[in-house]
Amino acid sequence: MNSAPYSIHALELGPMENFVYLLHDHASNRAAIVDPAWEVEEVLQLATQKNIKITDILLTHSHYDHINGLEQTLNATDAQLHLLDEEARFWGTELSKPSLHHGGDTIRLGDSSIQVLHTPGHTPGSACFYIGNDLIAGDTLFVFGCGRCDLAGGDPEQMFHTLNKIRTSLPANTIVHPGHNYAPQSPISTLREQCEGNPFLHFEHCADFKKYRMQIHDRTRNTPYGWVSKADTLTTLAQFPD
Ligand SMILES: [Fe+2]
Repeated sequence: MNSAPYSIHALELGPMENFVYLLHDHASNRAAIVDPAWEVEEVLQLATQKNIKITDILLTHSHYDHINGLEQTLNATDAQLHLLDEEARFWGTELSKPSLHHGGDTIRLGDSSIQVLHTPGHTPGSACFYIGNDLIAGDTLFVFGCGRCDLAGGDPEQMFHTLNKIRTSLPANTIVHPGHNYAPQSPISTLREQCEGNPFLHFEHCADFKKYRMQIHDRTRNTPYGWVSKADTLTTLAQFPD
């Protein structure tokens, strides 16, 4: 039985295996849609069928594959748009009356509260949303992977510190809900499983992480990403000279 005051509905949409999430607060029957994109009408229809009112839109970051249904969602609802102030400045697009957040803010959704974590690395103002025991991770953390750091605004050193903070500050039983479905089996995972089998969580030193992210990873792994032992990650690292 689900005793949490909320449910998370995940819809895998579009050609890039994006996840669009609907966070539903039971008591108020309100919902937040996370990263409205692609066939976003499917999410809007789901809300209508369940008689849920979409009152909020949360953006993990501003990349096209996460926001291309934003206008349609804004037009179809009265929802309030939320993103980090830093991401809005990086994006530079005209937004009408968004709520601009900073890391540590809380967004109320009926009886549920959503903590906003600033998680730079994929983009300067990337956010993860932490609700109950669940982490909506955007392109910061995938199941056995992490977001690329070589696009505009990406920074592997920031990503190293972001992932370290997630690893050390959130409970091991946190459920990770990624922004793309790159997993071989279950599309979600625990943080404990990620600490064990996600190579991006295996590094002690920023320089090693940076080398692995920027020079090694894409030459040695393809989606779907499977479980990798820490020993294998460090062996792979050692095979590439500095
Ligand atoms: Fe992205």
